[in-house]
Amino acid sequence: MLYIGIDLGTSAVKLLLMDSEGKIRNIVSREYPIYFPHPGWSEQRPEDWYEQTMIGMEELLADADKSQVAGISFGGQMHGLVILDKDDKVIRPALLWNDGRTYEECDYLNNVIGKEKLSEYTANISFTGFTAPKILWVKNKEPENFARIAKIMLPKDYIAYKLTGVHCTDVSDASGMLLFDVKNRRWSKEMCEICGITQNQLATCYESYESVGCVLPGIADRLGIPHNVKVAAGAGDNAAAAVGTGTVGDGMCNISLGTSGTIFISSKKFGVDKYNALHSFAHADGSYHLMGCMLSAASCNKWWMDDIIGTTDYAAQQEAIEKLGENHVYFLPYLMGERSPHNNPNARATFIGMTMDTTRADMTQAVLEGVAFALRDSFEVAKSLGIQIERTKICGGGAKSPLWRKMIANILNLKVDVIESEEGPSLGGAMLAAVACGEYASVEEAAAKIVKVVDTVEPDPELVAKYDRRYAQFKEIYPACKPLFEIIK
Ligand code: XUL
Repeated sequence: MLYIGIDLGTSAVKLLLMDSEGKIRNIVSREYPIYFPHPGWSEQRPEDWYEQTMIGMEELLADADKSQVAGISFGGQMHGLVILDKDDKVIRPALLWNDGRTYEECDYLNNVIGKEKLSEYTANISFTGFTAPKILWVKNKEPENFARIAKIMLPKDYIAYKLTGVHCTDVSDASGMLLFDVKNRRWSKEMCEICGITQNQLATCYESYESVGCVLPGIADRLGIPHNVKVAAGAGDNAAAAVGTGTVGDGMCNISLGTSGTIFISSKKFGVDKYNALHSFAHADGSYHLMGCMLSAASCNKWWMDDIIGTTDYAAQQEAIEKLGENHVYFLPYLMGERSPHNNPNARATFIGMTMDTTRADMTQAVLEGVAFALRDSFEVAKSLGIQIERTKICGGGAKSPLWRKMIANILNLKVDVIESEEGPSLGGAMLAAVACGEYASVEEAAAKIVKVVDTVEPDPELVAKYDRRYAQFKEIYPACKPLFEIIK
């Protein structure tokens, strides 16, 4: 049988075709625009997602035996607010996970409603990217749109709806809405009241590996696939990536270097970070996870390469980097503000420490190291909670760089397991579809059979010590700049 995994990302939708043995048969990617209507705002058109997903599926299946397709599922960019009217038409462009416009609504939620209450109802506090403050923003700033809302959806759930006609979501993605009682895996009636919405406006919530229904006949006919192809609820992209890298069960770690950067720690038990710096979310394998999320990770390198240096040859720029652990230049990677652990939409990116002998390679190195140092900020929070992690998987576009993997291993002092395919969310999506179709008894079984570690990057104690000293300096830069970020707006 064949399974389709759809990773609805921020720069593109990536589609992956997997067979019953977990072998990847084909991968296709289709881009769509992202709009920044104001500094710090980011939007996309759900219609663009759907159109490119359909074209992508046609391309994906072009040479495949379409009669063998059995299931489809997702990993999707999290937190984005998609609002539909009573006729299921999109009301306005979606506000994305890295959109920082909701600082007033966050302030209201965290400081008027109060962090303790939010944490009690949802296991989390408010961050500008989360969905509930976006709903409040629409309520406050676009009341005419708010009045038309019949359904509130997350990005991948809009695609699931277009494929099946079912308004659904899954526990991992719902966790990032700040409307979900994560511990009990159900909507929070208190949070619905606080946001002025009813539970009927939310989708039905499934476990990630559960089938929500079959593809609509028109979709099956357009793609040439059987009418009984199942669609599973899928997961937020980080939980799907964790499935795709085998980060399931207890105490496993995955680092994702995509547009965002995340450190994801799986847990059989529900737990909350007492500082609320890490998110406490449901996992796609039926359990839970803690996660730190930085808003700009591989996107910092992309920005530096594409927009500033003006090159597409990232590898050539990285070859010029000679010495690790000795760079005197630092980079704060806050191009879109920052989520974990600072929760500051006004934070901005900064280079510091240049001298007349600073080279372009030093600055490129600072960008890569700055992302790794910022991931370590979240990792330090996890360690302070008593969580012991010695190794991690890695995925996402940035994970293709051996140099960046080495930096991560030494800056976080972790063994980094490289897996056969760093496809993360799209592979995880296909695996969830396979579980929904009964190909595997559980997500854990699918991960054990499909995911293979092909290499491990071991930290080098000397380099770890050097980077420890560098990290101690890096840590001082954000607090020193913070008052300036309030002025530079
Ligand atoms: C996670 C988050 C990002 C997006 C990226 O909380 O906001 O990782 O899911 O697609």
